[in-house]
Amino acid sequence: MLKVAVIGCGYWGTHVLRNFNNSPLWELAWMSDTDETQIAKARKNYPKAKTTKDYQDILNDEDIDAVAIATPVDSHFQIAKDTLLAGKHVWVEKPLTSTLAEAEELARIAKEKNLLLNVDHTFIYTPAVQKIKEIIKSGELGDVLYFDSVRINLGLFQHDINVIWDLAPHDLSILAYCTNKKAVSVNATGSCVIEYSGKKIENLAYVTINFEDESIAHFHVNWLSPVKIRKIIIGGSKKMLVFDDMENSEKIKLYDAGVSVTEKEDIYESLVQYRLGDMSSPALSNKEALAWEVEHFAESIKSGKATLTDENMGVEVVRILEAANKSLLENGKLIQL
Ligand SMILES: NC(=O)c1ccc[n+]([C@@H]2O[C@H](COP(=O)([O-])OP(=O)(O)OC[C@H]3O[C@@H](n4cnc5c(N)ncnc54)[C@H](O)[C@@H]3O)[C@@H](O)[C@H]2O)c1
Repeated sequence: MLKVAVIGCGYWGTHVLRNFNNSPLWELAWMSDTDETQIAKARKNYPKAKTTKDYQDILNDEDIDAVAIATPVDSHFQIAKDTLLAGKHVWVEKPLTSTLAEAEELARIAKEKNLLLNVDHTFIYTPAVQKIKEIIKSGELGDVLYFDSVRINLGLFQHDINVIWDLAPHDLSILAYCTNKKAVSVNATGSCVIEYSGKKIENLAYVTINFEDESIAHFHVNWLSPVKIRKIIIGGSKKMLVFDDMENSEKIKLYDAGVSVTEKEDIYESLVQYRLGDMSSPALSNKEALAWEVEHFAESIKSGKATLTDENMGVEVVRILEAANKSLLENGKLIQL
């Protein structure tokens, strides 16, 4: 059994703790949080694990194989760097870091030290995203023409990152994993309609990414919506796919719908004809994404192979987030990647 420590026992850390603790491949050996009340809660659930307010105690323990970091984003870099330098594998929450330079530095250290740096882009481990990748790879959608995502709700207002850094990593990782498209430019607009903490933290934003093959992706992310919508439409040249994560069953619907263009010599005579065929919905397992991810992380450590969400994905996501943020601050200017 591999030994893991979890640093950060807040909202997401409790899910990470539960899944490492439930896995037969892991022993949950340490838990750390700077907040004593969070440690007390975690201790109640996992009395066998040791606890500390100072994560250096964990790094000094030679028996620890890996450390999972579920602290606020602006602390990821230092904790992950210290952990890699202590010779331990890292699992870090998304997004990897709050700057591209930091993400690249962590990736370099992990490679030099031959350690795994898994970024918890949890969606990649959902049965739905696995199925979407399979459908796209099989060619059933044809060429992917566009990707349109709406990820809005009355969300948790974060104190260290804006809504793009909080929610867009999900769409960026899904897009990268399912399509392998090369993004060439990005632009973003947004607004801080609610001010808090004395800082300007955008609560809603619209991000557009342009790809080398002229296809396009658009994300609408918002913490201030009265309804929760988690919907992605992927338009293909043959079929169209809708992923609605709020659905309990039929999360993915595949529409045999599209258009065909009949070219005539005179452009005004070109005909665009609609094709409306059947809709189908593939069956999906209901395995929890984090349960599979902690197993996959253990197996990857044992085999020495990279995880599905390694540092390369982490860096690419941060590259686009940083460019989108730059665009946001420059009133939607197109930023080349
Ligand atoms: N993968 C996902 O789907 C997903 C979902 C939600 C959040 N997250 C990520 O999880 C991370 C944490 O988010 P959250 O919503 O759980 O925040 P949170 O504020 O609820 O929890 C963070 C915890 O870290 C502790 N902490 C801060 N600095 C620390 C340090 N130096 N050492 C030890 N503990 C420290 C805080 O006291 C707090 O308990 C963020 O990176 C966020 O982006 C990921």
